Amino acid sequence: MPAQIIDGKQIAQQIRSELAAEVAEFIENNAATPCLAAVLVGEDPASQVYVRNKERACEAAGMVSKLFRLPAETTQDELLSLIAKLNKDAEVHGILVQLPLPPQIDSERVLRAIHPSKDVDAFHPENVGLMTLGKPRFLPCTPHGVLQLLKRSGVETAGKRAVVVGRSDIVGKPMTLLLAQKGWDATVTIAHSRTTDLAAVCREADVLVAAVGRPEMITGDMIKPGAAVIDVGINRVDNGTPKGKLVGDVAYDAAAEVAGWITPVPGGVGPMTIAMLLHNTLTAAAAIER
Ligand code: GUN
Repeated sequence: MPAQIIDGKQIAQQIRSELAAEVAEFIENNAATPCLAAVLVGEDPASQVYVRNKERACEAAGMVSKLFRLPAETTQDELLSLIAKLNKDAEVHGILVQLPLPPQIDSERVLRAIHPSKDVDAFHPENVGLMTLGKPRFLPCTPHGVLQLLKRSGVETAGKRAVVVGRSDIVGKPMTLLLAQKGWDATVTIAHSRTTDLAAVCREADVLVAAVGRPEMITGDMIKPGAAVIDVGINRVDNGTPKGKLVGDVAYDAAAEVAGWITPVPGGVGPMTIAMLLHNTLTAAAAIER
């Protein structure tokens, strides 16, 4: 039987309409509207698209979106002073600095400057720590989106083997921790570029999360029959057209013949990241206005 396709676009839309109702209720009960400030430094085309999508999604959910566009040659001090201003601005509930930042800017320093109560990406060490302790203020958007895809598609994780391929701070590491936490209860392995016999490790997975950033690296023979395969990768590859083609970290067609569930690229995890960002912005607003 071919895999069930997990439609991230549809699930994200469902979450966004649930959030829109909660935002309307929030506005009725508070003298404030949830507000996300997004900061974009430079002209990176992919970042421009991401930020525009985040703005539109905010507005569609009834939230306020404020975009701060800074030139590519912005200095670290200039960016830090904008963040200090946004930290103090009572109308701003969430702050997002789009990554990557230009090379003259120390990203770590910038992310640490965002007040943890407004850190809707959940990248600040305080928020990483709280999540690690099982007491999250915010969950990081992409791993949280993956959990929602699993839950809303009826994929059981308790007692199952999960393998996360990739050990990034943004996806791999938090994904591993969250899948192992109470409520999700998976037995989790974190694999990466130095893993010996990656194929054999992947074949043990009832839930396989691919977040390595290498186009179609996970092939059909690496998948356990019936597994849930979640593809976090978004890679642009040359297919002879000017824009190229978007592919995931999983070789989709071959994987779909073996897997029980699979997420497409695009239209899988991507839309969920934005939905969870909106969720965090509403959480931030509720905590600040309380
Ligand atoms: N660049 C790529 N993904 C992300 C993300 O989730 N948050 C931010 N701020 N920048 C990104």
